[in-house]
Amino acid sequence: MRTIFFTGKGGVGKSTLAASCAWQLSEQGFKVLIVSLDPAHNVADIFGTPVGHAKKKFTRNLYLQEADLEKAAAAYIEQNIDILTEVYSYTRTFNFDMYFKVLRYSPGVEEYASLTIMEQILRRETSFDYVVFDTPPTGLTLRILALPNISVTWVDRLRRIRRQILEKRYTIHNITGKYSEEGFRLPYEEKDDSVMRKLNEIWQRYVNVYQSLKSADIAVVFNPDYLSLRESQRIITGLKDLQLPLRAAFDNKYEDRLSSSADEVEKELFGRNSGELYLTRVPLQEARRNGAYRMQFDVTEAFR
Ligand SMILES: Nc1ncnc2c1ncn2[C@@H]1O[C@H](COP(=O)(O)OP(=O)(O)O)[C@@H](O)[C@H]1O
Ligand SMILES: [Mg+2]
Repeated sequence: MRTIFFTGKGGVGKSTLAASCAWQLSEQGFKVLIVSLDPAHNVADIFGTPVGHAKKKFTRNLYLQEADLEKAAAAYIEQNIDILTEVYSYTRTFNFDMYFKVLRYSPGVEEYASLTIMEQILRRETSFDYVVFDTPPTGLTLRILALPNISVTWVDRLRRIRRQILEKRYTIHNITGKYSEEGFRLPYEEKDDSVMRKLNEIWQRYVNVYQSLKSADIAVVFNPDYLSLRESQRIITGLKDLQLPLRAAFDNKYEDRLSSSADEVEKELFGRNSGELYLTRVPLQEARRNGAYRMQFDVTEAFR
């Protein structure tokens, strides 16, 4: 299974190119799933058919999905409440209710929701040849792509702290001896400790997602004008910082009359020679009422 991400500023043509790419790959005989991770979905509009939160068959080889980000966010919050309640069931000292109430407003929930969906799809939908992700505008996308890396680092730290706690428990256990069977005894071995098991599980999950991102085909979409330049630069720098490879760049909505600004924008973004990168210009298409996914231009070349 190959994974393709279309990223870029709002309005540059991410959804259009993602949809065209998915459609063209499916017409070439590949089994393709396109998933929108943009809270402002428009896969349904582009394909001119209602699309639910579950994947929907569009043609024999093409499936469409608009991720249910709200539900994923709610589930994420629920799950955290459950974990906290379970882990701290032995103490009544903290007032968690207050914390739970504001949890839904805390920063990062939306990103985690997207990541959760991404992780589930990458894990479950292995029968597809390609999964194409249509992403929200730059900032949010970069934060989503950064999450697995950040999470692995954080969870690693938490595991270290937990290990220290378990060691201390073991010491205490040795000093006090075994409590009577009715007595309350906290586990000191990693395998018996539910917190440690949970941390290991989370760690493994994020490591897997990070590996998938590393081998994903990430594309940046921009337009031959200076408006999209800065945001495209932010994506390119962001991906470099995250050590995620940029596979393709689409200079979309190109017209001959814009050739000099296209040259300049491309040069600003990628320097004189773009090296390994697949850089292409996608011409401005005539507007069509239906079927914006039926683009003449071959969007799939970089991904075959
Ligand atoms: N190559 C193109 N030629 C003409 N119109 C385009 C092209 N690519 C995108 N568009 C139009 O630009 C607008 C924004 O495109 P969209 O794919 O929704 O952008 P994004 O997903 O990046 O916000 C839409 O009206 C779309 O039809
Ligand atoms: Mg879009």
